[in-house]
Amino acid sequence: GTVVLAYSGGLDTSCILVWLKEEGYDVITYLANIGQVEDFDAAKKKAESLGAKKVFIEDLRAEFVEEFIWPSVQASAIYEDRYLLGTSVARPCIARRQIQIARQEGAQYVSHGATGKGNDQIRFELTCYALYPEIIAPWRIPEFYNRFVGRKDLMEYAEKNGIPVPVTPKAPWSMDANLMHISYESGILENPKSHAPAGLYLMTKSPEDAPNSPDVLEIEFKKGVPIKVTHVKEGKSKDTPLDIFSYLNEMGGRHGVGRIDIVENRFIGMKSRGIYETPGGTILYHAHLDIETFTMDREVRRIKQGLGVKFAEMLYNGFWYSPECEFLSVFKGQVYILGRESPKSLYNEDLVSMDVQGDYDPCDASGFIKINAVRFVSFISYFWYVTAR
Ligand code: ARG
Ligand code: SIN
Repeated sequence: GTVVLAYSGGLDTSCILVWLKEEGYDVITYLANIGQVEDFDAAKKKAESLGAKKVFIEDLRAEFVEEFIWPSVQASAIYEDRYLLGTSVARPCIARRQIQIARQEGAQYVSHGATGKGNDQIRFELTCYALYPEIIAPWRIPEFYNRFVGRKDLMEYAEKNGIPVPVTPKAPWSMDANLMHISYESGILENPKSHAPAGLYLMTKSPEDAPNSPDVLEIEFKKGVPIKVTHVKEGKSKDTPLDIFSYLNEMGGRHGVGRIDIVENRFIGMKSRGIYETPGGTILYHAHLDIETFTMDREVRRIKQGLGVKFAEMLYNGFWYSPECEFLSVFKGQVYILGRESPKSLYNEDLVSMDVQGDYDPCDASGFIKINAVRFVSFISYFWYVTAR
């Protein structure tokens, strides 16, 4: 059969590529450009050299902003009061295109490199079940994860199979970067008490190093979505969604806006520690909140607020393509936390770790995701219509 693999060019998905080939699959790799800093040409060459049958590099930046980030801004979507959902909102966007490629190429399977412990597997796979029901997730196949228990095994496999291993030592944490944010978790950050090392943040300057004079911006909204941003002093303005959002990232980044360090509840049932920087998203969150309270009736806003909490939960848990989410979208001085510790902590470092298995069988996630997708069966043809548009 043929697999469309969501490929990043990194060690994990490169090993998955070679491993899938070893298992007898034809592999098509697909790399989405959603605004991460990346050498796409190098990734393409790498995939080809590792035996990918076909390589897709897709620029999804504009649709990511317009169809995924903008609805979250409208909804003031925020998870557990702090997380602006930068990874959550990217997954259905990536998976949607992956499914379109799979259909177009007549592939029977899709695959990804998310681990069996996290949210991302659920977001990818629920999107796939909603749009195209067959899936392989290598991290949950026992032959795969028993062989690749940690990074050491991946490195060995890479060496044996001529997979180029990055020469610069990898940061001792996992990153997920896109236009909206960069997230940092696992590795040395798994200890919830340890502080983030200086130099971790890539999108934002440290507030200490930020300029002392403000940049004053004017943001114009229409139907809850920004349509123009103007730098008041420089008179410069941006008016396409991608330009607006990129400019707000630049401005927020310059002033150290949008850093958080939190412990959150994963859908799969464990707590995890995550560090995020969401410069443009944070500016928009506050600007939108302000214009909303200014223009919306009190009681209407109360109802909207409640729905916003639900919407954020759907987004976080991977239910972007679900009947409830479709239904909803029809309606229209800082504190910095560095680490934490408590005798009553419910946080379990082994359970959440990317390096050890803990008391957790990744295979169980398969059933969890499938059961959650049972409801989708009757909607597949409808979602098919939605994505084919
Ligand atoms: N914890 C965040 C979320 O669930 C970020 C996940 C980051 N993903 C990653 N592959 N590093 O949305
Ligand atoms: C992963 O497990 O692959 C990343 C973290 C998450 O998905 O929550």
